[in-house]
Amino acid sequence: MKFFIDTANVDAIRKAHERGMVDGVTTNPSLVAKEGRDFKTIVKEIASFVEGPISLEVVSEDAEGMLKEARDLNGWIDNAAIKIPLTWEGLRATKQCADEGIKTNVTLCFSANQAILAAKAGATFVSPFIGRLDDVGHSGMQLIADMVQIYANYGYETEVIVASIRHPLHVFEAAMLGADIATIPPAVIDKMVQHPLTDVGIERFLADWEKVKGKK
Ligand code: E4P
Repeated sequence: MKFFIDTANVDAIRKAHERGMVDGVTTNPSLVAKEGRDFKTIVKEIASFVEGPISLEVVSEDAEGMLKEARDLNGWIDNAAIKIPLTWEGLRATKQCADEGIKTNVTLCFSANQAILAAKAGATFVSPFIGRLDDVGHSGMQLIADMVQIYANYGYETEVIVASIRHPLHVFEAAMLGADIATIPPAVIDKMVQHPLTDVGIERFLADWEKVKGKK
């Protein structure tokens, strides 16, 4: 399973990268706004040490505007994946990007039918937002199960990025379903390593070691 990190915070990306847990990065306008810095500067900094795909989102609502932005963003770095919303205009732009060899991440996917359209448009990645579905009383994880099954049925190459992850259980369940990628907020990655029995175990081993240390 590939791990993307879901943030535009360069320090957080660097920390996860040093731990060997960054196969790619996803950003969106809200995450970039949180940083309060120039978007292009942030992107260049991330690309200076991350080799995997870095998702950069367009903000136009018409296909022509999206395409213009996609071509521009794609020229910033070698490993861009252009995030395009799942609308008819977005799908038109996605198809054109595929024809031009520009990688895409079709975002704001909330249904299996939308996911089929994204794959047919030639999306490199598609991002179902599971946390936001859970928030409104629908099962985000059922959507992942449906997408994994449908893409396998037809051999679509589009990769599923499980997005809007809120807690470690989301990562575990996505892995059980065979999703290609989870894009995970830094705080959730931090939580994944935690287990009280690991801490207690270390404490006991060290205490026992103290008893024999230096004995000949
Ligand atoms: C990732 O590509 C999305 O932008 C992100 O996961 C959205 O998460 P949120 O629902 O917590 O804003």
